[in-house]
Amino acid sequence: MSTSEQRWSPIHGDPYRPVPYRPGRTDPADSLARAAELRARMDERRTVRQFAADPVPAQVVKDAIACAATAPSGAHQQPWTFVLVQDEEVRRRIREAAEEEERLSYDGRLGEEWLAALRPLGTDRVKPHLTDAPALIVVFQQRYWLGEDGEKRKHYYVDESVGIAVGMLLTALHLSGLAALVHTPSPMRFLSEVLRRPANEKAFAVIPVGYPAPDCEVPDLVRKSLDQVMTEI
Ligand SMILES: Cc1cc2nc3c(=O)[nH]c(=O)nc-3n(C[C@H](O)[C@H](O)[C@H](O)COP(=O)(O)O)c2cc1C
Repeated sequence: MSTSEQRWSPIHGDPYRPVPYRPGRTDPADSLARAAELRARMDERRTVRQFAADPVPAQVVKDAIACAATAPSGAHQQPWTFVLVQDEEVRRRIREAAEEEERLSYDGRLGEEWLAALRPLGTDRVKPHLTDAPALIVVFQQRYWLGEDGEKRKHYYVDESVGIAVGMLLTALHLSGLAALVHTPSPMRFLSEVLRRPANEKAFAVIPVGYPAPDCEVPDLVRKSLDQVMTEI
């Protein structure tokens, strides 16, 4: 049975149980072609803040979340919850609460240095993407889990693990033909309240998903070149 067909249950404290892993080896010429294609396709990804109201196939979004959930995680604790919100009223409530926080942020809470960093992006306190995009994926980090005895058990490397999973989510959405935005209204406590999440979960980001609006615009940004982000030894 493949791991995706089995239902996960906690392995905390279990003995080491190895199984064979023998993936087929990819021919280097195929690897080169795939890598070049992937590099070009990923370079086309942009953060979208203006969405069309058109619905997206829910299964595409669910498959992307399933891709994200294959991410590596500290001690395989998979400390993430993805809340898929398509309900219009809930999206409206999230927008209302987010815009209240963003109003305080843009009216001074962020400080001049942060506001200056945001200026080239053209963002402001108004967040239409939260109601225009047909789906929101709200990602929560599970800071700890509760053992059967009700004891709090620590999760390790939660920030890193959830960050990697969100990177894989964005990649899957993009390669499936959908646009997305990582939105981090700060603070994000309101998301736990609106979505009634348990106390061990902390909001990480709201990710609107959909198709770009026909008149969508994005800031004219330049990415660092490979030699600016990589060094070889
Ligand atoms: C952790 C994180 C938080 C972000 N928060 C916001 C946000 O709150 N609002 C927003 O409009 N964009 C947000 N972004 C999107 C970035 O501004 C965007 O990725 C960046 O400007 C590069 O643009 P690109 O994604 O089109 O390459 C965030 C991105 C990341 C990775």
